[in-house]
Amino acid sequence: MSYIYTDMKGSARVMHEDYNNTVAGWVNESIVIALPELLECINKLYEQNPERFESTETSFSIADFGCATGASSITPLRTVIDRIKQINSEKEIHVYLEDLPENRFDLAFTTVQEGLKDYKNVFIMAAGKDFSQQVFPNKFLDISFSSLTAMILPSPPAPLDDNVFFLANPENTETERGKKWIEGFNQHWVQFMNSRKAELKKDGLLFVTLIINQNPNKDYQTKENEFYHEVATQVLKKVLTKYNVEDKISSCMKTTVSVYKSHYLDICNSIPDLHVVSSNDFDVKDIFYHEYIETNDLKTFGQKVASYIQGWWGDVLEGGLAQQGVDQQIIKEVSKEVFEILPEFVESRLNIYPEYYNVLALAVQRTA
Ligand SMILES: C[S@@+](CC[C@H](N)C(=O)[O-])C[C@H]1O[C@@H](n2cnc3c(N)ncnc32)[C@H](O)[C@@H]1O
Repeated sequence: MSYIYTDMKGSARVMHEDYNNTVAGWVNESIVIALPELLECINKLYEQNPERFESTETSFSIADFGCATGASSITPLRTVIDRIKQINSEKEIHVYLEDLPENRFDLAFTTVQEGLKDYKNVFIMAAGKDFSQQVFPNKFLDISFSSLTAMILPSPPAPLDDNVFFLANPENTETERGKKWIEGFNQHWVQFMNSRKAELKKDGLLFVTLIINQNPNKDYQTKENEFYHEVATQVLKKVLTKYNVEDKISSCMKTTVSVYKSHYLDICNSIPDLHVVSSNDFDVKDIFYHEYIETNDLKTFGQKVASYIQGWWGDVLEGGLAQQGVDQQIIKEVSKEVFEILPEFVESRLNIYPEYYNVLALAVQRTA
């Protein structure tokens, strides 16, 4: 039985129940790259505020925004917890797993409890709410963490029918549609940052990783644009047309944006009492492509990439069609067919499959 109710409004944003198996490994590459920066930020926080770590009287609160089914939460949480416990092994730590209410919190709890079971005094809780608003009380958190999530907008600012998500480049940011997406992104990011700022204690740290498109002319960014353009126009559109629901194409797309680093930084720098601690970006290896280079096994490559795409897009596609009132049977057929076609399609598009993706590790501190 599926616990994902595709007729629920928000389910157009949550992850597929198999996300831990199909996507977490891919995401983990970006987490591993960003961990040294996270550790450095925690050390700075310790230098500024030693009693926050050393005192056993108060607890330390960490939230993971957009925890999904939990597999990607474990490594960053362990990094933070290990450092705190190194300083004070008795320190009580509260971990809050945050996501939309319809997320599979059962899977998130099972996975994260298992991944943190060897610690003493670590308490795991959850909050199910849209993070566009304030989720936690004022001055409640010591560290807010979020991996590859905060670039998802609450709703599409304009219809999108030629790509699975919005990838900024010099051409499309000048179009009417592109301007609307950037405007929608700005509104989202202002709201996200103000909500997170309110929840942080003074000196508290927000550490987020985001998929960006720092240099749209880079070879792999051009490929990413082309590859997902073809997934939308060659695969999805054909299947929707077969079922006479091609006019619903926009509802199937992700509300994720890949914009420039400056789009994030300009807003962070305009918010009072926030200080940008670091903002490095990285070319992160796509694990499926690099595995293919080692093995030459094109079939496995196609299957893994298709499962990975289904992990972050499957429920979004189905949920979007459900919101448009499409019949449940047709939704199931469309989804089944798209993900049946995808492996071979991916195999045939190796030449335009992006070998890397670009990630921004952004660390921001509340100063007052
Ligand atoms: C791409 S997944 C990332 C999951 C995980 N952090 C990782 O790194 O693998 C994005 C997650 O953010 C959640 N999400 C998207 N928009 C949200 C919102 N407005 N409020 C809370 N969670 C949201 C989705 O439900 C999903 O679980």
